[in-house]
Amino acid sequence: MLDKVKELFNEIDGLSASNKAEVENLRVKYLGQKGIIKGLFADFRNVPADQKKEFGQLLNDLRAKAEEVIGGLKEKTGSTSTAGSKKEFDASLPGYPFLVGSRHPLSLVRQEIIDIFSRIGFQLSDGPEVEDDWHNFSALNFPEDHPARDMQDTFFVKNNYGKEELALRTHTSSVQVRVMEGQQPPIRTISPGRVFRNEAISARAHCIFHQIEGLYIDKDVSFADMKQTLLYFAKEFFGEKTKIRLRPSYFPFTEPSAEMDIWWGLNNESDHRITKGTGWLEILGCGMVDPNVLKNCNIDPEEYSGYAFGMGIERIAMNRYGINDLRMFFENDVRFLKQFGAAL
Ligand code: PHE
Repeated sequence: MLDKVKELFNEIDGLSASNKAEVENLRVKYLGQKGIIKGLFADFRNVPADQKKEFGQLLNDLRAKAEEVIGGLKEKTGSTSTAGSKKEFDASLPGYPFLVGSRHPLSLVRQEIIDIFSRIGFQLSDGPEVEDDWHNFSALNFPEDHPARDMQDTFFVKNNYGKEELALRTHTSSVQVRVMEGQQPPIRTISPGRVFRNEAISARAHCIFHQIEGLYIDKDVSFADMKQTLLYFAKEFFGEKTKIRLRPSYFPFTEPSAEMDIWWGLNNESDHRITKGTGWLEILGCGMVDPNVLKNCNIDPEEYSGYAFGMGIERIAMNRYGINDLRMFFENDVRFLKQFGAAL
């Protein structure tokens, strides 16, 4: 029996393993509940009394040796598990649920509006958020002293590179100027994007919001064409029964100009509040592109005419989802955000 133990010392000294599974097999073989060393301890009671002390010492040393060698191998192969690893994995346990995001309500509404206009041939256009005076104001026929240029409405940007003053765009009409400058008609484009105005933040207003503006320029484009396109949009977005009305308005870059309302109804208290008791809800601004704007962009107003329109995405999303505080869109509270749209 002593010989057997000595042999085991040599054997254990020479052990090697190249992966976790092999180490685990060795652990079970030598140190496991039914392993070799446990077996030797079981045989201990058969050892004659006068040899018990020496033998016991030897066995303890053997176990320490095995633990040291196998522990070393375990470290080398990166195994940390001390229990049998097979026992730990139970494929029948339910999995952990993992949270998926959902699209932001503003993205959903923007995409829906883009889809509606894409179906009738409008193409997407994009432009910078930091704009020069020409694209945001001058080309759009804003007089030098127009109040919209005022410090109260516009965030001006300090420009260290040139004399020209830059500003955060106050509308995406600036993108339409860029499109007209780069391309002769026919033009059909929509420009979604973030815009900035120096306004006090409240439930109805924010200094950052989103717009989609549209532009259509070709030969013989009329106010009736615009009205028909906007009616199509209103029906697609708000439903087949939607009615619209146009009220005269003013924008420097369109003449004539109008604001479009949709019939929202007056069925309950909230309808009264949203529509200020009229049943009509203002959705967008629109008009025929002023000939001066066409001239500024090198398009001949004798040959071409066109219409433009612009709407705020937040306002439309608020109506669609019954949200009464615009600030919710920007707070990124997942409890609010996860109510909208399908999971990604
Ligand atoms: N640019 C206008 C705004 O920001 C909207 C608009 C666009 C109105 C095009 C008429 C035509 O309010």
